[in-house]
Amino acid sequence: MTSLRVGLIGAGPVAQAIHLPTVARLDGRVRVTAVSDPNYELAQAVAARLDARACRDLAGLLAGDDIDIAVIGSPNAFHATQIMALAAAGVRGILVEKPLAVSRDEASQVRAAVAASGASLVVGAMHTYDAGWLQALDALRPLGDLAEYGPFHARLVCHIPNNEYFEDMASQLIRPGVGTSGAAPTPGELVSGGVLGLAIHNLPHIRHFIPEITDVAYAVPAQPWGYAITATGVGGTLELLARTGGTWRPDWTLGVYAESLYIELNFPPSYVHCGSATTTIVFPDGSTQFCGGSLDNGYLDEWLELLEIIDGKEPRYSVDTLVADLDYALRLAELAAATADREACG
Ligand SMILES: NC(=O)c1ccc[n+]([C@@H]2O[C@H](COP(=O)([O-])OP(=O)(O)OC[C@H]3O[C@@H](n4cnc5c(N)ncnc54)[C@H](O)[C@@H]3O)[C@@H](O)[C@H]2O)c1
Repeated sequence: MTSLRVGLIGAGPVAQAIHLPTVARLDGRVRVTAVSDPNYELAQAVAARLDARACRDLAGLLAGDDIDIAVIGSPNAFHATQIMALAAAGVRGILVEKPLAVSRDEASQVRAAVAASGASLVVGAMHTYDAGWLQALDALRPLGDLAEYGPFHARLVCHIPNNEYFEDMASQLIRPGVGTSGAAPTPGELVSGGVLGLAIHNLPHIRHFIPEITDVAYAVPAQPWGYAITATGVGGTLELLARTGGTWRPDWTLGVYAESLYIELNFPPSYVHCGSATTTIVFPDGSTQFCGGSLDNGYLDEWLELLEIIDGKEPRYSVDTLVADLDYALRLAELAAATADREACG
């Protein structure tokens, strides 16, 4: 078996603690050949563990002509330009961490670049590939148009310890140096960062039930990190609560409730490989179904999806769907930021 060659763009916590352990579960179907990071010492240290080449930037990564798949684990602001450069260079598979891009303009440029190149693209919103969600979608399909069962209330709760806690469980991390912090973010920037950093994992799920967000009634950041947001949309209401920083038992739950339909997904935390979500559905006739409970998790499933698309399978999520998911998240982030800044001004 010839393994596909992987280049890591960004060698930070997500590359080390999420993608390398997942690559190790792929039975040799892929191998890392190059690692790039502007922190060249970090790139070298991570590459040395993998017997891969280290480089400082994307140009250096592409110059080796030894990449079939690229994993973009750089900060959000670079995702779109890096996808476009990889597509233009003819890289076959691109796994970009969420979010796909940080603006609608960028997203439409990405759409055009990926269409022109034919590259296979997966966004690393791992819960959208999680067996507990995909099985739930299959179970809901016979109901037909879900809008007929609304209005829905979607409640997304993420009470999870710090990322560092899980990074250290998932890997022996080589930590990059701590950067200097700039000006303190405004409340609006904090809640917007929370939506595009954390809630974005599950907004594609919520979009199935509440296809459009129209208003944010309340939005405040939480300490030490998190947010509380309530919103209204076509098809129902949303309530998003997140708090990280403690050592409490992780709780990452999405509940979608209507008068005659109840769906609750309990997701595993990020980084660690501890199986899929477990899902409970109560149907209009009162019957109950449990889904998920797989030993695979969304990280493995997103990688398997990428390999299958490269092999010719139709993508589960078209680029249009990925762009629409981003648009939904941007809309919520923008409305929540405006509300949080307004509330902070009293
Ligand atoms: N799927 C998940 O569960 C999950 C969890 C956390 C973060 N993320 C996403 O992963 C991405 C990276 O997160 P992180 O925590 O590793 O971030 P980070 O900022 O800590 O590390 C990113 C690495 O990218 C490097 N970098 C900076 N500019 C770069 C550039 N232009 N090109 C290449 N590399 C560059 C940095 O030096 C750093 O080593 C973010 O987009 C984040 O949203 C996903």
